[in-house]
Amino acid sequence: MKKQIILTGDRPTGQLHLGHYVGSLENRVKLQDTHDQFVMIADMQALTDNADNPNKVRNNVIEVAMDYIAVGLDPNKTTMFIQSAIPELSELTMFYLNLVTVARLQRNPTVKNEMQQKGYGADVPAGFLMYPVSQAADITAFKANIVPVGEDQLPVIEQTNEIVRKFNSIYGDVLVEAKGLLSNHTRLAGLDGKAKMSKSLGNCIYLGDDADTLKKKVFSMFTDPDHIKVEDPGKIEGNMVFTYLDVFGEDKTTIEEMKAHYAHGGLGDMKVKRYLLDALEAKFAPIRDKRIELANDKLAVMEIIKQGSIKAKEVATQTLDEVRRAIGVQYF
Ligand code: TRP
Repeated sequence: MKKQIILTGDRPTGQLHLGHYVGSLENRVKLQDTHDQFVMIADMQALTDNADNPNKVRNNVIEVAMDYIAVGLDPNKTTMFIQSAIPELSELTMFYLNLVTVARLQRNPTVKNEMQQKGYGADVPAGFLMYPVSQAADITAFKANIVPVGEDQLPVIEQTNEIVRKFNSIYGDVLVEAKGLLSNHTRLAGLDGKAKMSKSLGNCIYLGDDADTLKKKVFSMFTDPDHIKVEDPGKIEGNMVFTYLDVFGEDKTTIEEMKAHYAHGGLGDMKVKRYLLDALEAKFAPIRDKRIELANDKLAVMEIIKQGSIKAKEVATQTLDEVRRAIGVQYF
């Protein structure tokens, strides 16, 4: 039986962090055993709101590639590639742009939100406004039927499927509809407990953080501001140390005991933080070590991405060929 096809990706605007790990990376490592998986470094999409900062995008391509390989994405199972290395995706985008309206793009909740956050108003870069169309090209080029994404991206997949249906109804059955796949973890809150872990909020633990940085970050985590003396009863809810233990701790029984002890009073923050630090070290030290190894041989990393890009280009070229034939823009 033919394996189901997965396409997903990340904008290379920074290193990947623990939020990415629980939200998607961990899942991808599992899925690569059972699916035909493509993972894309979306540099073209990153440029849609970073046109004036191309070095940021360029420099983060390799960082994201190292994150992928360090967490265990295996080039023999997952095709990792760079979006801009596949110009066929841009050509598909041009065809799809005729199938959506500006009004529909402006109504896309994901785009609408991001436009608000960035304060674009009417002066939104056209490329940014239409990134869901380019994302539809990414997805359909590989005939992906599964797209693992964060919740905020579901409207983009919905819009992809609208394009697919419209395309197929006008030009004939070529494209495949896709389903969004959410990870079973809710989004990971940041160290400050205020919002999701996000680079722009400066509340992240990066996969590439060294042991010292990790320790400092864990020790600075938001706990319960009213838990002043060790004997004081402490709050578990909204206490990031326990939130993270729920996600990353292996020994659930011990964690439940610690929660009861903390809530009752008599367990100090530092003890719990040290316990969390050990749990994070156990999980992420091997990833960090692998990442250092990769950073010492960036040429080898780029070679993996290059080979992946060659393979991805073959698939996208095949789809583009079918698309051109279906539309009839095939003259010679
Ligand atoms: N928009 C996605 C994000 O910001 C990245 C992305 C680009 C993507 N192309 C994709 C995700 C295709 C899934 C499928 O995270």
